[in-house]
Amino acid sequence: MRLTFCAPCIFGLEGLCANEFKFLGLENVRAENGRVLFEGDFSAMAKANIQSRYAERIQILMGEFHAETYDELFEGVKALGWENFIGISDAFPVKGRCLNSKLMSVPDCQKIIKKAIVSGLAQRYMLSWFEETGPVRQVQFLLMNDRVSVLIDTSGAGLHKRGYRAQSNEAPIKETLAAAMAELSGVRANHFVTDPMCGSGTILIEAAMKAMRIAPGLKRYFACERWSCVPQEAFAREREEATDLIRKDASFEAEGFDIDEAALQVAEQNAELAGVSDRIRFEKRVISLFKPAEGYQTVITNPPYGERLLDIRAAESLYKVMGERFAKLPGKRYTIITPDDDFERIFGRKADKRRKTYNGTLKCQIYMYYK
Ligand SMILES: C[S@@+](CC[C@H](N)C(=O)[O-])C[C@H]1O[C@@H](n2cnc3c(N)ncnc32)[C@H](O)[C@@H]1O
Repeated sequence: MRLTFCAPCIFGLEGLCANEFKFLGLENVRAENGRVLFEGDFSAMAKANIQSRYAERIQILMGEFHAETYDELFEGVKALGWENFIGISDAFPVKGRCLNSKLMSVPDCQKIIKKAIVSGLAQRYMLSWFEETGPVRQVQFLLMNDRVSVLIDTSGAGLHKRGYRAQSNEAPIKETLAAAMAELSGVRANHFVTDPMCGSGTILIEAAMKAMRIAPGLKRYFACERWSCVPQEAFAREREEATDLIRKDASFEAEGFDIDEAALQVAEQNAELAGVSDRIRFEKRVISLFKPAEGYQTVITNPPYGERLLDIRAAESLYKVMGERFAKLPGKRYTIITPDDDFERIFGRKADKRRKTYNGTLKCQIYMYYK
């Protein structure tokens, strides 16, 4: 069955995600605001879930249409062929969001969509009551500017959950964003990467996994694996293929520093769980002692931002230290994410490239220095 899939991603990462999908051989890939669409069968769905580093989840796009009234919403949803994915006893909870539309009540839209799916399935299965005791098909909707997108989630837990985060420290960066920073820094199999404020080590772990081509979803399961319509072989085959791609021969190495000993312990455990602990060395060290290594080096970091005025001042004094320590030298590359619009002035140099994105709800920029 040929399906259209939708992969929501962090704003600013659509291009990276689309390139990744094309590289994976997925078809008809289109990047849009906050999401990337592609087409394929259940194998493509398994591949995207297991191998995508930047997508937040993979959803089946059931349909998109204009709806200004509840009748239009009901009829449009009812006609979407739910029996292809939802069996007689399966559960199908509905959740979603309404933005800038005539229909702005989320609970009402939820009820109408649920009724419409029940009505569609009732006709098909000649039943009027569904027990919903089976595996879950999480139905999601987005009503934006009177256009509704109706989707079924295939991932379950968000794809940023790789399965290696045993514990987290105070402000861990999302794995998908950390992976994107590694990609934007051009991390390759033979690179040496440093994060001088590594916290729980997410950036270095994602960089190592990327360098060694360890698929981010190899150590976890996905909601759609329990669906009767998805052939077991689809995921088994993609896992096998992803396992064959791992490059144990990569010479990648990394080092992570932080002042917080507890965070460093968490980082070590996480690296162990991710299977990259032999590639990353962690050590307690303050940023003011940072010295560029000999030869090629890629520095990627997510420094503290500070939320109150006093903390912002403290964070900015760290940016100044970084500017002094991150010397402009041949073979050195620096990538820093921060929401501070004054970063370049305090750091002391204009970035060679910048990219706007979000870290959680915070509008940030990724500053890249490589010339
Ligand atoms: C935003 S967190 C980094 C989170 C990390 N990316 C992760 O995924 O867990 C910033 C880190 O900077 C560390 N830090 C703060 N001041 C520092 C300093 N002077 N030298 C080194 N590390 C410092 C903090 O302990 C904290 O772990």
